[in-house]
Amino acid sequence: MDKAEGKPAAKTGAGLEGVVAAESSIGDVDGVNGVLIYQGLDIHDLAEHSTFEETVFLLWHGRLPGRAELDGLRAELAANQQLPAEVSELMRRFPAGAEPMDALRTAVSALAFYDAGSRDLSREGALRTATKLTARLPVVVATFERLRNGKEPVEPRPDLNIASNFLHMLSGEEPSERVARIFDVCLILHADHELNASTFTSRVIAGTLADMYGAVTGAIAALSGPLHGGANTNVMKMLLEIGEPERAEAWLREALASKKKVMGFGHRVYKTEDPRSVWLRKFSRELGEARGETRWIEILERLRELMFAEKKLYPNVDYYSGSAYYLMGIPLDLFTPIFAVSRISGWTGHILEQYANNRLIRPRAEYVGPRGVPYVPIEER
Ligand code: SDX
Repeated sequence: MDKAEGKPAAKTGAGLEGVVAAESSIGDVDGVNGVLIYQGLDIHDLAEHSTFEETVFLLWHGRLPGRAELDGLRAELAANQQLPAEVSELMRRFPAGAEPMDALRTAVSALAFYDAGSRDLSREGALRTATKLTARLPVVVATFERLRNGKEPVEPRPDLNIASNFLHMLSGEEPSERVARIFDVCLILHADHELNASTFTSRVIAGTLADMYGAVTGAIAALSGPLHGGANTNVMKMLLEIGEPERAEAWLREALASKKKVMGFGHRVYKTEDPRSVWLRKFSRELGEARGETRWIEILERLRELMFAEKKLYPNVDYYSGSAYYLMGIPLDLFTPIFAVSRISGWTGHILEQYANNRLIRPRAEYVGPRGVPYVPIEER
């Protein structure tokens, strides 16, 4: 401890790199070995065998549900899908050109007005709010998409799971079984990732004992940044700009020469392959082959080889997800809102954990400004 200032002597890397800021059981990222677990279960087991709803239960309760518990959660989610009429009305006045993440942030903030229990931070109260938010984020995103295209929102169906309901509310059509399963696994893969920027944001806000809507609104804002969740859209824009596999190498060399950050590569924690990208690469290839559009995966693979050769960088979760969503016919600027539709489960899991054993999150800064500066009256400046 620095006696003079009463400050901890330890300084962190820029961006809190390497700092352990909390204890948590929600999820763990092993960046050296490329292992991701949720409450002790490996992401590959969950992607293979689980569903998004089962993963939500796991993140909130620390164990897999029994059949009755899973049915209970699905019923609760279905019972809470409807948006308050006032929020649906408010959304009709959103500009059609609004950024979807701004629309999502604004609608989520407004949802608090119509939840009488929004400030009940007890475990039961917070779980009720977590259920409302998890059920409603996909409806908000799909409603915005319909309204900005001059169409009436498609009502959520209580018989569909979150993955199928979302795709159905976007297009009015039920997805094929295979696309529904692929999208369900995408939601599992994006559900939690330890103290990433948006999750950490949600914990800092919850740490002041602010309500869950405020904590999630802040998390959505953090996720929208291109260095975080916003990267998936930019990867697809990059693929559309490159256009053909033959142009991939020249494009990348130009990007690296101009010191550009290539979206979808690199990670603060993973120094090897992001385990989630293994599944997303498979889905991107499968969907491309099914639609006769393999040029996107071919460009992605070319860029991947080159980025490793040049920068020893690996793809992250955003690298393949965009092409998979694009091949499902989802508009590019909805890719990051989809990230939020999944990550709401991890955010709320962390917020529940923060409320249960809270201490205000308040780090220090290393003051590097001047000291002893005299006050000079304005006439003399
Ligand atoms: C997500 O934290 C999480 O867990 C996030 C996430 C989650 O699930 O919540 O995994 C989701 O946000 C994934 C990341 C999506 N973002 C991107 O794809 C944007 C592109 N990536 C980079 O901006 C970067 O890799 C970050 C932001 C992801 C990580 O940044 P760091 O840890 O601050 O690393 P850095 O910027 O200091 O880079 C270290 C070196 C630098 O080289 P030098 O200048 O030291 O020579 O690696 C280079 C960087 O130039 N580098 C890149 C690069 N990423 C790092 N060079 C080119 N392209 C890149 N993408």
